Amino acid sequence: MSKVGVVGCGYWGPNLIRNLVENRRCDGVVVCDLEESRLDYVRQRYPVAGTTPDFQEILNDAGIDAVVIATPLSTHFELAQRALKAGKHVFVEKPFAHTSAQAQTLIDLAHASERVIMVGHTFEYSPAVRKIGEVIRSGELGDVYYISSTRVNLGLHQKDVSVVWDLAPHDLSMIFAWLGEQPVQVVAVGRDYVQPGLPDVAFIDLTFGSGVLAHVQVSWLSPSKLRNTTVVGSRKMLVYDDTEHLEKVKIFDKGVSYRDPETFGEYQLSYRAGDIVSPKLDSYEPLQAEVDDFLRCIQENGRPGVDGHSGLRVVRVLEAAERSLLNGGRPETLSWDASPAPSRVKV
Ligand SMILES: NC(=O)c1ccc[n+]([C@@H]2O[C@H](COP(=O)([O-])OP(=O)(O)OC[C@H]3O[C@@H](n4cnc5c(N)ncnc54)[C@H](O)[C@@H]3O)[C@@H](O)[C@H]2O)c1
Repeated sequence: MSKVGVVGCGYWGPNLIRNLVENRRCDGVVVCDLEESRLDYVRQRYPVAGTTPDFQEILNDAGIDAVVIATPLSTHFELAQRALKAGKHVFVEKPFAHTSAQAQTLIDLAHASERVIMVGHTFEYSPAVRKIGEVIRSGELGDVYYISSTRVNLGLHQKDVSVVWDLAPHDLSMIFAWLGEQPVQVVAVGRDYVQPGLPDVAFIDLTFGSGVLAHVQVSWLSPSKLRNTTVVGSRKMLVYDDTEHLEKVKIFDKGVSYRDPETFGEYQLSYRAGDIVSPKLDSYEPLQAEVDDFLRCIQENGRPGVDGHSGLRVVRVLEAAERSLLNGGRPETLSWDASPAPSRVKV
């Protein structure tokens, strides 16, 4: 059993607190927030073991094994570094850190102190996203040609990060997990229509070494909430709509094939439109699986499904997208030669 300190209980933190207090591997949650009103809110709703406005109190408590960080991005590095130096296992919400250098420092610190470091790419724990990974790896879609993802709605405009850092981590982490690779080129364009200096709309194009293309559209300035991803393969096509309650994933037996013409004028393309199948998905809350993985890794000396290296990969692409966006869509190239050291010694 682990006792956990949660820092940050604004919009997202309470979801983590709820899943921690309900988890049988957790025997107490202490919550920290700078705002007394947020601590009041938590005390009224959850059976937490304690609350404090002072993060140092959590670090000084030898009974607390792990810290979950759900504060704004600008604070992630400082809080995570202090927690690791205090000997705590650390879960950091997405995005892991604001720079890849910060992310690497946290990975190295966790490695040196043999602590678990995990990043909150929640979608990687979603039944739909896991099923899509299985479908792609099984070869059912054939070779993946391209992926197109749309994550848009009206708001919530963040105060300290652009829409790229706020929303794109979800799509990037899903796509990298599905393909098992990261892009070698990133091109992004975007605009800060509402808050000067903080882009609220961005279009990100990724080119992968395998030849796969991906397009990610993120926006806080759109009339309807869309959470749509299309994966087009050489044999079949898949559509994932996360706003659907039933049938979030649909596999279309659709495609087009090209034949060398035998005679001049012969039609060269044949289109195929077969069954549409919606695979059965497990029903569990992604956050529950994510929190359980973190606690299990602490207790069983394991390596989380989304470790510091996963977090770093996403941060490197966010940095490249931001550079490209600030330079009017200039292509940014990335190389992925460095082989990552495990963030946890024993798997
Ligand atoms: N995994 C997901 O699906 C998901 C969804 C939403 C948000 N998030 C992430 O969660 C994090 C928090 O987002 P949010 O929308 O809840 O932000 P928020 O602004 O609503 O809440 C942040 C809270 O942290 C507190 N805080 C800030 N600095 C602090 C400090 N030094 N010590 C103690 N408390 C401090 C603030 O008072 C506030 O209550 C972000 O990294 C965000 O990207 C993840």
